[in-house]
Amino acid sequence: MKGFSDILPPETGRWRVLEERAREVLGGFGFSEIRVPVLERTELFSRSIGEETDIVEKEMYTFTDRSGELITLRPEATASVARAYIEHKMYAFDPMAKLYAIGPMFRHEKPQMGRYRQFHQIDVEVFGISHPMIDAEVMAILMYYLSIVGAKGCALQINSLGCPRCRLPYKEDLQAFLRGHFSQLCPDCQRRMEKNPLRGFDCKVQGCQEVMSKAPLVEGYLCQDCAEHFARVRAFLETIEVPYSVNPRMVRGLDYYTKTTFEVVAEGLGAQDAVAAGGRYDHLIEDLGGGNIPGTGFAIGMERLLLTLPEAPPSRGPSLFIAALGEEAQREAFNLSYRLNLAGVTTMVDYEGRSLKAQMRRANKFGALYALIIGEDELRKGKVILRDMKERRQQEIPLPSVFEEVISWVGGGSSY
Ligand code: HAM
Repeated sequence: MKGFSDILPPETGRWRVLEERAREVLGGFGFSEIRVPVLERTELFSRSIGEETDIVEKEMYTFTDRSGELITLRPEATASVARAYIEHKMYAFDPMAKLYAIGPMFRHEKPQMGRYRQFHQIDVEVFGISHPMIDAEVMAILMYYLSIVGAKGCALQINSLGCPRCRLPYKEDLQAFLRGHFSQLCPDCQRRMEKNPLRGFDCKVQGCQEVMSKAPLVEGYLCQDCAEHFARVRAFLETIEVPYSVNPRMVRGLDYYTKTTFEVVAEGLGAQDAVAAGGRYDHLIEDLGGGNIPGTGFAIGMERLLLTLPEAPPSRGPSLFIAALGEEAQREAFNLSYRLNLAGVTTMVDYEGRSLKAQMRRANKFGALYALIIGEDELRKGKVILRDMKERRQQEIPLPSVFEEVISWVGGGSSY
């Protein structure tokens, strides 16, 4: 299906590295993994992401299940993690929770480079901390992670969207401005103008972009609390020497954000250049029926991150290929290969009973480092041949010590 991909070896190895590094870094900062379902009730997403957003209006995979319930494949993880936090009363012990989730998300967007219908996120959420220090901390963790996995040319952009209190007068002024340019706006922006005028900043239509370049910005409207919060976030970023720039036009495509928002853009990604994005959402938990508990977090787009990294090296072959001739030799090969695999020597056998020549061709084709040849004659003499495929040297080995000999030649450790 368009926008849905298989991830094949050796590519899967790159995914595993990203996931393992994420677990190490996040674990080190005191985060725990949470796993949430890929399906949720539709209203969870419409209430949290916002009815008037592209995601909810156009992009969700929504359907009724066999019991008539309206359900949606998750387009993001924040709403699900927040739901789980509330449902399991994770705040009961302490409101603070540092969680991460890794997995697929689904959005029915037009596929292009860096934009898919099934994509994967490393999603990070912190609940229960309103202090600006945590905003700076999650951004620092994100930038550190991106640097250790080798992402190049990443730049952190930050903004503040204020709180509902300061956003109200801003929205009114923005609406008044947009009304004055109504005829220049695309039908989507015209329709959304009344309920969600901020969306105009994300619109890709050229006419709208021209109008929005002159639109009032939220920075001039921040209340004292929000302005102070933003200044402190910046100061904390400077304390730990995380470079950033302020992008006053960044509004984000989801409605739950308050105060701090951020995106990391990477070079060479074309139009879809945001590798990761996030921000603070101080009212989401309350809006979903939980207490007055703030939140902040981000998600990394794994496909986009991989586009910024070098390609996977070709897969290595098995360490050992056992070529066996005849029923008796095959049984010996089967036994040895099973035990060697358990011992960490990746071993392959030929299952088809081909000729010795054909088996050696397969050993070469799969790039085996060593071959063990168990012929009928050798077996009768209680001997096998161990061959170094690269050096082209070989040695006869007595059958009883073959296991130990192979381990000492080949060494342990799987190559897959
Ligand atoms: P988002 O900006 O919608 O935010 O997505 C975060 C990242 O996911 C994007 O920066 C991008 O790398 C990746 N992404 C999004 N859509 C696609 C797509 N169609 N194909 C490939 N990659 C994509 C969120 O999802 C928020 N939940 C982030 C967050 C967590 N905010 C607070 N906590």
